[in-house]
Parts: sequence; C-alpha cells; structure tokens
Amino acid sequence: MKIAVLPGDGIGTEIIAEAVRVLQALELPLELESAPVGGAAYEAHGHPLPEATLALAKAADAVLFGAVGDWKYDKLPRELRPEQAILGLRKQLGLFANFRPAICYEQLTHASSLKPELVAGLDILIIRELTGDIYFGQPRGRRVATDGNFPGAEEAYDTMRYSRPEIERIAHVAFQAARRRSKKVTSVDKSNVLETFQFWKDTVIEVHAQYPDVTLEHMYVDNAAMQLVKAPKAFDVVVTGNMFGDILSDEAAMLTGSIGMLPSASLDQHNKGLYEPSHGSAPDIAGKGVANPLATILSAAMMLRYSLNQAAQAERIESAVQAVLSAGLRTGDIWSEGTRRVGTREMGDAVVAALGGKGVTGLTRS
Ligand code: IPM
Ligand code: MG
Repeated sequence: MKIAVLPGDGIGTEIIAEAVRVLQALELPLELESAPVGGAAYEAHGHPLPEATLALAKAADAVLFGAVGDWKYDKLPRELRPEQAILGLRKQLGLFANFRPAICYEQLTHASSLKPELVAGLDILIIRELTGDIYFGQPRGRRVATDGNFPGAEEAYDTMRYSRPEIERIAHVAFQAARRRSKKVTSVDKSNVLETFQFWKDTVIEVHAQYPDVTLEHMYVDNAAMQLVKAPKAFDVVVTGNMFGDILSDEAAMLTGSIGMLPSASLDQHNKGLYEPSHGSAPDIAGKGVANPLATILSAAMMLRYSLNQAAQAERIESAVQAVLSAGLRTGDIWSEGTRRVGTREMGDAVVAALGGKGVTGLTRS
C-alpha cells in the first residue's frame, strides 16, 4: 500500500511527523513517500502543486496531507498561493466527498466553549461537497461593471453553480453514511434566496426517494449555524455544499473543544482519499513543537479505514488516542487545570507507546 505524504507548511511538518511515526509503529506493509506541497513547494519548485507531487498523489493508494498556507504568501497571484495546492488536489483527484466528523471526546467535554451538557457525547458528521460550488464555478474574475448598483465601477465576481450529477452523488454519499449511523440527514441550503440551492434541495429530495428508511430534513444555512450552537446534538449527518460546508465545519469543530482534534477524509468515487486534519497550518505556532498532532493521527486512522481496508488498525489508533487523553496528556489547545501539558513530539510518543500496549500510566499530572 503506497501512501503519498504531503506535510506542507507551518505546523504541517510537525504534525505529519507524528502521524508517520504512528503509522510506522503499526508494522503494516506501507510504503510512505513524501513530497513538497503548498508554500514549501512554491519555495522549492516555484509552484504550490508541482507536477511530481501531483503525480505521486495520483499514483498512491491514499494521500496523507498536513496543512498549507502562510500570511507571507498572501500577496502572491492567486494561482501561486499555497491554498491552490489543496484545491488542485481535490479537483484533480476528483475528491468530491468530504467527511468532517465532529466528535466531543468525553475527556474534553470541558474544553468546549459551550456548556458541557450541550456537547457531552456529541457525534455529528458533516459531509461537504468538495469540488463544486462557488469555489470552482466559472466564470470568475474582475471587470468593469456594466450593470448592478454601480455601473462603470470596478467589480469582482464568482459563480455559484451545481449540476444535477454533482448534487446526486453527494446526496447518495450522505444517505449511505446515515444508514451506518442514526439514519437522519439534514440537508443545509439557502433555497429561500439562491437558485443553486433550490435546485440542490429539489435534487436531494429526489435522491431521498431511494432511501425511505432515512429521515431527511432541510435547514437554511443561517439557521443551521444557529442550531449548531443551540442544540448541536439534534444533528447527525449534515450534507451541504462546498462554501457552506467550509464554514459550518469550522463551527462544528469548535464545539468539540478544539479543531486540533478533528480529522477529515476527502474521497473520490472509489474511496481513494486524501486525509488531512480539519485545521490549518497555524503559522503563529509553527516550529515551536506545541501543535496538537491528534487530528492528523486520527486522519491516518480514517485513511486506514476508508482507503486501505484496515478497520482494525484504525481502531487501534483511535483507542491509543483515547488512552492518551484518559491519562491526562494535553497539548496547549486542549489543556485544562489538572491535566498535563505536553508538546507535539511527546503526544506522538505517548500514542506510539499506547499502541504498543505499553499503556500511558505514570504520565498523568505534571
Ligand atoms: C478547509 C480550508 C480550505 C477550504 C482552504 C485552505 C482552501 O479552509 O479545508 O476547510 O476553504 O476548503
Ligand atoms: Mg475551512
């Protein structure tokens, strides 16, 4: 099994290093090959997604991705910015289905900014369409307006669009995921205002006819943003477009205490996937050895489950993470009174030790 490892920028290299050590500790026949991506690739090869990196990702069975981006690239032309690497990989590999679970670990209930009773036991799955919508819709650009509120003025524009097959395939993914969970899907749209999302809603309703055992509800995105902080446990599977999914998944992530805990999977039609933490490159803490590697380690577990058919190994990693949390180890983002603050490397060490059945006793309290 060949895995392309793309660490990227900022804390990407630090967190990927820990996930790689965890994968190696499993002693599976995995071939790991890394390549530069994002700002790092721009520095080395003049492009955020060099041909060789894309070729490696295409040839691999799965991609393990760190994070890209740094403020210092904000002035580059858009096509050379680090973000284009992840957008390009999603598009070029056809990774249209993005799974972003938001799980509140029992040990971290108190790290949430919401009242513990609102988030205890939270387990929702946001399914974000990842290769369409206003993210990729053409035309886009800058021009002189010929109509609108200020004809003759300079303006910028993007295009929100979804085709029927794009909506149908993500709806199928959501209904099938719901069948493995609580059999409830909330489709989030803005059909009260946008043509694109009226079509989205109509199409999701049509696909739903094939899943009579699954309950479907519809919610406008503004209300969904509100309900997520009011009663998050009322959700199970949430399916939505690329733009709304980007926003709601950050919101859902924070309910769990830290975005540093949340993995993600981006899958194509055949379950080939790219796995990355839901968080970004955090340039403010890069190089300090304090980033939380657990989201990336849990992304590696998702990779084993979804793309490499190794569910038992995925569970081993997930149990090891639980053991480490139960032992009281915390990176700064999830630290609270009475727990032990550790760095990126020490957290990785502890997960590796827990995998080996060595337990993590003696590490509680400082
Ligand atoms: C995410 C990120 C990306 C996105 C950026 C880095 C392009 O925010 O994965 O959610 O907007 O999709
Ligand atoms: Mg985002």
